[in-house]
Amino acid sequence: MSDLERKLKEQSAVVGVIGLGYVGLPLAVAFAKAGFRILGFDIQRRRVDWVNNGQSYIVDVGSESLAAAVANGSLEATTDKSRLKEVDAICICVPTPLTKTKDPELSYVINESEQVSKYLQPGQLVVLESTTYPGTTREVMLPRLERSGLRVGQDFYLAYSPERVDPGNRENNIRNTPKVVGGIDPRSIRLAELLYQRIVDVVVPVSCTEVAEMTKIFENVFRNVNIALVNELAQLCEKMGISVWEVIDTAATKPFGYMPFYPGPGLGGHCIPLDPYYLANKAREYDFHTRFIELAADVNEQMPYYVVSRIMDALNSRDRNLKGAKILMLGVAYKKDVEDTRESPSVKLIRLLRGKGADVSYNDPFVEQVQIVEDTLKSVELTEETLSSADCVVIATDHSHYDYQYILRKTHLVFDTRGATRGLVGANLLRL
Ligand SMILES: NC(=O)c1ccc[n+]([C@@H]2O[C@H](COP(=O)([O-])OP(=O)(O)OC[C@H]3O[C@@H](n4cnc5c(N)ncnc54)[C@H](O)[C@@H]3O)[C@@H](O)[C@H]2O)c1
Repeated sequence: MSDLERKLKEQSAVVGVIGLGYVGLPLAVAFAKAGFRILGFDIQRRRVDWVNNGQSYIVDVGSESLAAAVANGSLEATTDKSRLKEVDAICICVPTPLTKTKDPELSYVINESEQVSKYLQPGQLVVLESTTYPGTTREVMLPRLERSGLRVGQDFYLAYSPERVDPGNRENNIRNTPKVVGGIDPRSIRLAELLYQRIVDVVVPVSCTEVAEMTKIFENVFRNVNIALVNELAQLCEKMGISVWEVIDTAATKPFGYMPFYPGPGLGGHCIPLDPYYLANKAREYDFHTRFIELAADVNEQMPYYVVSRIMDALNSRDRNLKGAKILMLGVAYKKDVEDTRESPSVKLIRLLRGKGADVSYNDPFVEQVQIVEDTLKSVELTEETLSSADCVVIATDHSHYDYQYILRKTHLVFDTRGATRGLVGANLLRL
């Protein structure tokens, strides 16, 4: 039994988590709760200070559990990468965004591979958790790590284990969501499996890093393509005078072979709108065009424009122009009950509506302010006055906090892009 294997079994291993964001912070707390000592790394000084003060900034991590882990000495955060030498296993949870032209932006993974390589110690296990295209661990990380002079499978171990966290989801968490692990060699797979078995009920080992990488991207492409399908259906249903929401709910009564997806004002978040491009881009190296991904992107990216045209038509039929109209947007987070505005379709909607001369304000109980191009908008209070003075209230995010019946009662016109008002009726109510 190797030293690392023994330490993982005895829970005496020190785990380093690089990138204390939506993925890294919950992971660090989960390891701490399981009895490991955790060293968290981030480049943002204020995040490191918040962690060390036991103050959470991530929706799925309670300040109490964070503070408890810090107080009992099991969790510490730092900006000092030289302390990577102190850890036995390293989980890398850095961002994998896109460039402006929607190409993979792997600089975070590249920089981190170089940093880790600088401090790599014999016996360490390195695991990439960030979502990326198949081949990243082997082609991008491995050569950089081996510049240390150490050899994979012999001196150190390298694996890929995608994060499946769904922020705000109360049912599925790190513990009860099976975790896939793929390694460069059998020992890397075995060690990564042992590591995650301490915090996850079911670990799913796969033959190599590429299978694990492709699995994660396939899961996100699956959602992306199905959302596009239902977004297209919503547009047809509107033309045919059929409620797409009723169709979806009815189809969902089928107990097999169907899974509901819902239309909306466009895709949001750090994963579903971005990750498919990682695969589409990599596929081109093989003279292969991922047509479903391109088609889904086309449909999904048009949704904010479609919503604007529907709002414009709705105002028009009430003798109002969009230009000069007061629009109140409900929700700027990309999905319900979270504070994350990354890639939020609401932000795009606000930009498009303002571009057409509308006077747009917003309310979001989770988001105090939001940046729209050069301007910072602040959430307005949701009062009878703000509701009744709007020409149109747009439900852009279906937060559970909202009393939709009340909103409908107090408003001239409601445009619901999320099906939040299902079951309610009103001459002033329009849905996607
Ligand atoms: N957010 C999700 O729901 C989710 C779900 C599954 C997978 N993922 C994937 O996980 C990865 C991380 O996503 P996230 O949502 O946690 O991002 P995030 O932006 O919330 O967190 C990333 C953190 O990494 C830090 N960071 C950046 N560069 C660093 C460096 N060189 N060293 C140390 N820290 C650094 C940032 O300061 C930030 O705190 C991405 O690849 C994403 O696609 C995200």
